[in-house]
Amino acid sequence: MCGIVGYYGNEDASPLLINGLSRLEYRGYDSAGIAVLHNGKIDVQKAEGRLSNLIGLTTDMHGSIGIGHTRWATHGAPEVRNAHPHISKSGRFALVHNGIIENYKELKSFLEARGFTFVSDTDSEVIAHLIDFYYTGDVITALIKAANRLSGSYALGIICNNDNRLFAIKKDSPLVVGLCGKDTFIASDMQALLDKTRDFYILDNGEIAVIGDTVDILNLSGEHIQKQIYHATWDKTEADKNGYPHFMLKEIYEQPEALERTLKAHLYAPLPFLYDINSIHIIGCGSAYHAALMGKYIIEALTGIRVNADIASEFRYRNPIIKPDDLLLAISQSGETADTIGALEIGANKCKSACIVNVPESTLTHKSTPMYTFAGPEVAVATTKGFTTQLLNLYIIAAKLLKKRGDDRVQSLIEEIEALPTLVQQTLTLEPQLKELGKRIAPHSYAFFIGRGADYAAAKESALKLKEISYIHADCYPAGELKHGTISLIEEGSVVVAIATDKALLDKTISNIIEVKARGAFVIGISCFDLSKVCDVTVTVPATQFVSPLLASVACQMLAYHTAAAKGCDIDKPRNLAKSVTVE
Ligand code: G6P
Repeated sequence: MCGIVGYYGNEDASPLLINGLSRLEYRGYDSAGIAVLHNGKIDVQKAEGRLSNLIGLTTDMHGSIGIGHTRWATHGAPEVRNAHPHISKSGRFALVHNGIIENYKELKSFLEARGFTFVSDTDSEVIAHLIDFYYTGDVITALIKAANRLSGSYALGIICNNDNRLFAIKKDSPLVVGLCGKDTFIASDMQALLDKTRDFYILDNGEIAVIGDTVDILNLSGEHIQKQIYHATWDKTEADKNGYPHFMLKEIYEQPEALERTLKAHLYAPLPFLYDINSIHIIGCGSAYHAALMGKYIIEALTGIRVNADIASEFRYRNPIIKPDDLLLAISQSGETADTIGALEIGANKCKSACIVNVPESTLTHKSTPMYTFAGPEVAVATTKGFTTQLLNLYIIAAKLLKKRGDDRVQSLIEEIEALPTLVQQTLTLEPQLKELGKRIAPHSYAFFIGRGADYAAAKESALKLKEISYIHADCYPAGELKHGTISLIEEGSVVVAIATDKALLDKTISNIIEVKARGAFVIGISCFDLSKVCDVTVTVPATQFVSPLLASVACQMLAYHTAAAKGCDIDKPRNLAKSVTVE
């Protein structure tokens, strides 16, 4: 959802900015651009589409202060004139922005009435002109005056042609300052800078970073703020491909370690936000919502505690009934998803709240009690290890609640949770079979996924994975629901993926498989049972009492990956998507 970087130091800024942007491209790839300050002049280069289109244009850019941007278009088409950095009317300021300026129309009219003209359709260009409008010789004063007129969200990187400093300012969009000896960077996230430093200032709302030979953090009254340095523990090699053809495949294979780290952190540690709760609302978007849905099936079935799973963008506007003894649990890999933050905010003052988040110190973790996942940096837009570590945390929550109730099943659940890294490792050995199946699915234009109970949630996530990266339309239904309408779409050769890992529901799901088989479907069963009599192919995941839906999800990640690979898709950066969606 737009990535920004900035550099102040002694080296040429442009290759460093390009390197930073290459690590932020998951946030958007509609256009890219950089601006560099050189001898009192700002040079700008921008290109439509991927960052690779920009690189050749920047080789002659010199100067050791600069800013860069990779865009996920909101206001205005993905064209060069809408690409950042934006230059102010006088040419004095260059600016990159991540976020949305809600009052940009009003500000645009204000500025137009004062002789400013606009070259882009973006909300961001307004900020560059506004700073210019307020500039009377001191950049910080102009920044503060402009910031006080903006509503909405922004992380900004700014350079000025007669000031040898880099400026950054934040409200409701993530922004960090990376400290690296005499060099200082800014970026939308720490991941982009892990190859440079692990020491960061994580800016809070209303903070301005003034970066010269020293770094000053100010508030919007211009007062200095004493800030703690945050030392990141993520390993820089985790943010590299390490020989894999795609980040997604690497991240699929990192799941055993990610699960191991996450379970070690939480399985035997107390989770005080679970005390004295009567029911739970779990909210999230995209895959995080699918984790929420699976959490509902798992926690309700095991503990008898009522769980409502909701899509965050719906929850926030439907006046949900929230009681003081409820727990509101937000799930988000990035911790920056605007809809999830908004949904948490509407409930957080009504009941206890917590969040399952992967990115340390991200916005959600400051708004509720974090129960981190320790997946490490996830770069591929389609989540894999982020999703399964979220599920693990939900299994751990179920185990804690079961234990509190003195339920005997807790021991077997804990044993399975501890075995998860090994079970996932076993599931990953299915890759050759899933690769062949991927090739088989690749020519199709649509597929159906079915499942019951927690397997339905696994099927929903699996259908999303296939859609996101292979562009094959995939529809998902509770297995028993298909016959109530959608079965009319099944014809000779239609691909149906049936997930069936729950013994108690097996016969029911088998009946539904037979119904689609009878209408000519090609059925792939993902199961821990022998489905060879009813399915065309069975992918056998390890048999467990509780965690097989998670294992089925892992098998389907691999299936989606190999389908997209067989089609030659751009797996890590699917069209139109961004990994972190910081707008509504
Ligand atoms: C975007 C991504 C999805 C992701 C969702 C939630 O829509 O494309 O893959 O699941 O955001 O992201 P979060 O960071 O909140 O888990």
